[in-house]
Amino acid sequence: MAPHKIICRECGRTIEDQYLDTCPSCGGLLVIKMDLEPLKAMRPKDLHKVPIGVWRYAPFLPADPSAKVSIQEGGTPLYKCSALGNEIGIGDLHVKYEGANPTGSFKDRGMTVGVSHAMEIGAKIVGCASTGNTSASLAAYAAKAGLKCAVFLPSGKVAAGKLAQAMFFGATVLSVDGNFDEALRIVRELAKERHLYLLNSINPYRPEGQKSVLFEIMDQLSYEVPDRIILPVGNAGNISAVHKAIMELEEIGWISKVPMLTGIQAEGSMPIVRAFNSKHDDFIPEENPETIATAIRIGNPVSGRKALKAIYDTGGHATSVTDEEIIAAQKLLGRKEGVGVEPASAASVAGAKKLVEMGVIDKKEKVVCICTGNALKDPDTIISTNQSPIRVSKGLLGIKNILGL
Ligand code: F0G
Repeated sequence: MAPHKIICRECGRTIEDQYLDTCPSCGGLLVIKMDLEPLKAMRPKDLHKVPIGVWRYAPFLPADPSAKVSIQEGGTPLYKCSALGNEIGIGDLHVKYEGANPTGSFKDRGMTVGVSHAMEIGAKIVGCASTGNTSASLAAYAAKAGLKCAVFLPSGKVAAGKLAQAMFFGATVLSVDGNFDEALRIVRELAKERHLYLLNSINPYRPEGQKSVLFEIMDQLSYEVPDRIILPVGNAGNISAVHKAIMELEEIGWISKVPMLTGIQAEGSMPIVRAFNSKHDDFIPEENPETIATAIRIGNPVSGRKALKAIYDTGGHATSVTDEEIIAAQKLLGRKEGVGVEPASAASVAGAKKLVEMGVIDKKEKVVCICTGNALKDPDTIISTNQSPIRVSKGLLGIKNILGL
């Protein structure tokens, strides 16, 4: 296992207890500090003996690859999207399609590392709060590991595909009368009393696995650093993980410039965007977040301050998009490129389009949009925002008329 230690992001204290998710003295978030010395003598291609996927990057991970709980996560396509790029005015546009992960979202990258760690420390029950994808992923990895799993979901606000997955993989599914922030508060209390091992992105091991999306993008672009990476922001774990990966590559000298990290939120749920607009490095939580992109319907993002740092440090940006813009971008990606993503993921494409219109993105930039989850996660939204099937009688004439034959 690559050498590492756990430290408190706020007070810098080293933490020995591997079960904790916050600092016992100051309550700050914990982060993993990897010892990257061995990597300084290596080149990216030295890792290519292992197929592309999360575990190719084992020297960057605080987990033992020979004891991993894996369902072959990562290794997702990076599509060059010329037709979409023409439409929204970006000359060199790519989409990293995280919907191709085993449970259909980027969460599997963090979960393979997080659940491997849960096994290492002897946890018996794992749990999380979730807007849906984290619970689907945790349920699958817990099943693979033979662990009990409890997931806490905001009542009535989880897309059908995600709910079905958590039920199907055998988790105990608890419906909370409140939003994601409330569900997270409850599960954190249970974790504090050590009734379960918490696998939300506040867990310092989870973001470590999520770093791999950045390592893959770099491999897939042959280490030509994109000008900008755009991604949706909810609880803000993913943008923080991508930032950490960038800093690690910079530290070992594998990259000499950094991509501008650009976070997109839904207009009804945008605490990070508000903070960015007023140039603050902390945010004010929102009480009643609301958006069709239920995955990012979060008012009090746990890693919000980290996200703001990621954006400021890389010279990036944050903006919001309306539900209408999200659905329009979802359709555009589907119809121009044949790529199906869920609404939250389409927020990155909607944000790209808006930032071109605002003049923030230069048309000549090399841009990667991370599209975090599969379209099939949320079939109800697709059915309610697209043309219904056309009823036909058995006679061919009517059918020919419809088809214009
Ligand atoms: N996109 C999708 C599809 C998501 O499911 C999430 C988060 C995000 C983007 C935002 O990522 O939270 O790291 O900023 N989903 C979490 C969940 C909250 O419970 O599944 P983030």
